[in-house]
Parts: sequence; C-alpha cells; structure tokens
Amino acid sequence: MEWSQEARYRTYESMTTEERLKLEGSVSASPWRQRYHIQPMYGLLNDPNGFVWFNGRYHLFYQWFPFGAVHGMKHWFHTESSNLVEWENKGVAMKPEYTFESHGIYSGSGFVHKNSLYLFYTGNKRDEEWNRHSSQCLAIMNSSGKITKRDEPIIKRQPNGYTEHFRDPKVWQVEDEFYMVVGAQRENVTGCILLYQSPDLIAWSLLGEIETNEMDFGYMWECPDYFTLQTHGILLCSPQGLKLAGDSYHNIYHSGVWVGKPLNVENGHFDHGDFQELDAGFDFYAPQTTLSPDGRRLLVGWMGLPEIEYPTDSEGWAHCLTIPRELSIKDGILYQQPVRELKEKRKNEARTTMNLSDEVRISSELSGDCFEMIGEIEVVSAKRAGLKLRVGKGEKTLLYLNMETQKVVLDRTNAGVAFGQAYGSIRQKHYSKNKIRFHIFMDTSSIEVFVNDGEMVFTSRLFPRKESQGIQFFAEEGTAKIDVVQWKYD
Ligand code: FRU
Repeated sequence: MEWSQEARYRTYESMTTEERLKLEGSVSASPWRQRYHIQPMYGLLNDPNGFVWFNGRYHLFYQWFPFGAVHGMKHWFHTESSNLVEWENKGVAMKPEYTFESHGIYSGSGFVHKNSLYLFYTGNKRDEEWNRHSSQCLAIMNSSGKITKRDEPIIKRQPNGYTEHFRDPKVWQVEDEFYMVVGAQRENVTGCILLYQSPDLIAWSLLGEIETNEMDFGYMWECPDYFTLQTHGILLCSPQGLKLAGDSYHNIYHSGVWVGKPLNVENGHFDHGDFQELDAGFDFYAPQTTLSPDGRRLLVGWMGLPEIEYPTDSEGWAHCLTIPRELSIKDGILYQQPVRELKEKRKNEARTTMNLSDEVRISSELSGDCFEMIGEIEVVSAKRAGLKLRVGKGEKTLLYLNMETQKVVLDRTNAGVAFGQAYGSIRQKHYSKNKIRFHIFMDTSSIEVFVNDGEMVFTSRLFPRKESQGIQFFAEEGTAKIDVVQWKYD
C-alpha cells in the first residue's frame, strides 16, 4: 500500500467508523496476534515511552500510528499494569495539537514529582519544505489521569553545533536537581547525548555533551537513558549507523549500554568501558528503563526495527514490546533477566531429561506456541546440540550450542514467513563452555531467550504457521544431555 502524506499525517480522532472496522477486521483475522505481549489494537507500535510507577500502578506508553503499519503521525498510547504481567489499554494519551508537535508526539519519558506524572516528549514538526524541527516538550498527568500539555516547548530547539535530529528526553534526579539526556547529532553527522539541568523540571539549561570515548560511533544516538545500578553509572542509547563487526551489529540499528563510573553531572564526564549490545536477536530497539517501587531497574524494548517490512504489515498492524526485564551488573557485564512477576503465569508444568546420541528426539509431552521454558544443555562430545522449536511442516526455529565454532546460535532461516532477510537469518554469540542454561519465552509470533541468567538475550519475531508447535531435541556427531521444564501459558 502506498501512503500519501495526507494519509500518514492524521490524528486518531479523524478515523472513521468504517476505517476502524476494517482495521479491526483484518487484525482479528491475523494468525500472529500475541497473547501476553503489549501490542497495538491496530496500527504500528514502536518505542516504549514514559515507563514509570505512578499512583500505585505501572504506566507504560508507546509510540503509536493508528491507521496502519507505517511510521506516520505518532501518538502516545497508554497502558497500565499493577503487576507487569497483565496490561490494560487506557487509550491515546497524547496526540498532536500544537504547531510545534504537528507531525508527531515523539518518544520520551515519565518522571514522578509531587504526586504528578511529568511526561517529557519530543515535539516533531515538519515545515512547508518538509524540514524537521524538534523541540523537547512537557505534559503533566495528575493523579486522576488527566493530562495537560504545556502550550510551548520547554527546550525550543537544539543548541548550535547540532542538527535537527534532537529527540527522546529522559529525566532523573540527583539530590535537589533534575537532569535530562537528549539524543542528538553533531553537525559533523556523528551521534551524541546532550545533558540538561533544571531546578524545577520546567526551566532547563544546557550543561553540554556527555563526554564519552565515542566521538565517531554512528550518525545519531536515539533514545538515551542514564541510571545508576549497584555502584555503576550506566549510559544506554540506540545508535544508528554502526558497522557490522564479528557477531555484533547485524541488525539495521542497535541498542546498548556503556557501563562506567557514575556520570559526573558537574562537567558531563563519563568514564566507561566498551559498548555492550543489549540484545543478540533480530528484533530489538529503543529500550527504556524505570525503577520499580522495590528498587529494581526494569527495561522494556520495542520488539521491532524501522525500515523493515514485517509479515503483519499487510494486516494493518505491526510490532509489540518485549517482556519487562530486570537489570543487574556482574563483573562489569550488564545482565538482563525476565521480571520475576511473570512466574505467576506458570501452569501445566512438564519436564523431560534426554541423553542424546547423534539423533533428533521428538518430545511427546512438550509442544506449543505460547509458553515459558527453562533448561540446560550439556554437551559431552556432540559438535552441535540444542532445541528445535515451533516445528511443523518445513518449519523450525533452532536454538543450539555449536561446539565447533564456539557459539550460541539462534537460527530462524526456516522459522516461517521470511522477512528482513537482507540482515541474515542467523544470530550467534561467542560461547566457549560446554554447558549452557536457557530461559525461553515463546508467544504466538516471538521468542525471547535469556542465556545463563541473562548474560545474553536473543529477542526475535517469528512468523510460523499456527500448527507449527512441535518441540524437538538434537545432538549431532556425538552426545549431549538436555534437561527442560516447560510451562504452557493459558
Ligand atoms: C526510535 C525513534 C525515536 C523517535 C521515535 C519516533 O525508534 O526514531 O528517536 O522519537 O522513534 O517514533
């Protein structure tokens, strides 16, 4: 479908009943609707926004274009949860109203202050020549859920030396001062993060760039986030324009963190280690973190990427968010674990242990397209050993340990409807031991694999046929032992 400028830049209330019914009809006929991930009722979802605990509930917004699976006029759609497991759709939270946001309420964050939720976002505006203008804006949600926007931006434009790619504010507090990071592009077309300070969340002054070791690391850094974790300072962002290197940066765009010493907010200096890509799968971008009321640092990402056609696009909807993850640091490495709250969903437990010797074993107890699974692969002498999931006629998704190449591999070559193939169909990461633990979350059209308690994560969309629900275990050219427990979700 070709989208005209007019068709792409409309707000939700202009949707006719006929348009809505058509979208609802095609979405309800989709074989790929998720069962426990946040997904749009129709239209396109992208970045998580404003993830925060406020007024006794988690609030999680996302970028939403209502009219179909393209990037057009972005709204913030609002969801709420008391437990990070069940999410309730609350509807559109913000739509473009003012000139400074006439072409989209772009990404941003939430910050709770004096019993109100401050929502910081980017006002995206295009002028007559279609030049972009970006400003940082504020809306305040009161405790009864009413959102009031300020009628002008709190930061009107980017500072000198930077281009109009200036977006995605994230706010935090240190003692009595508030700080904001904004993703930016220098005039020499390299990405960076700008740091602002405010005494009251309304008046902001520029402190300067966050000073990192990365002066030439992609052309734009989107969706920055900064937080402390244990004794470390963590700077997170989604750089665009990194070049493929070994097993890293195989997707179109990337997300990751630098683990370092706490940021020096006086001079913007950040002393840090190497960039750690957050996810080794195919579909992950623009994550954002928040603090739970019990002090855990939680992260949610967009399970998708821009500029790639997905199989549901023709059905009028696209993408979902990842399950929330809990972050921790071990030996300078960022670990991500599924939030413990998800254990609530465990039902119908099935276990199996297999000693495999150069064979494929079909499990009779285990199968499914919506489940959680924890297991361990121990290779004795096999060259490759692991699991085949979503197995059906000609379809399978492989997760295995390759002892020859010393890699953990996720292979979606034959997973189902192919897409994004320009970026390959195999993802892998170096791993030299013969034993590995894995924790899988499967939903109708996605898989999230947490390896070794979150040392690596592989997040991917999969589009198999509904009937492809088989689970098999294999060892090639030698022996291996595999242990698993599975919980099928309702
Ligand atoms: C990241 C991003 C953000 C922007 C938003 C627009 O995916 O490009 O930088 O604010 O999406 O939807």
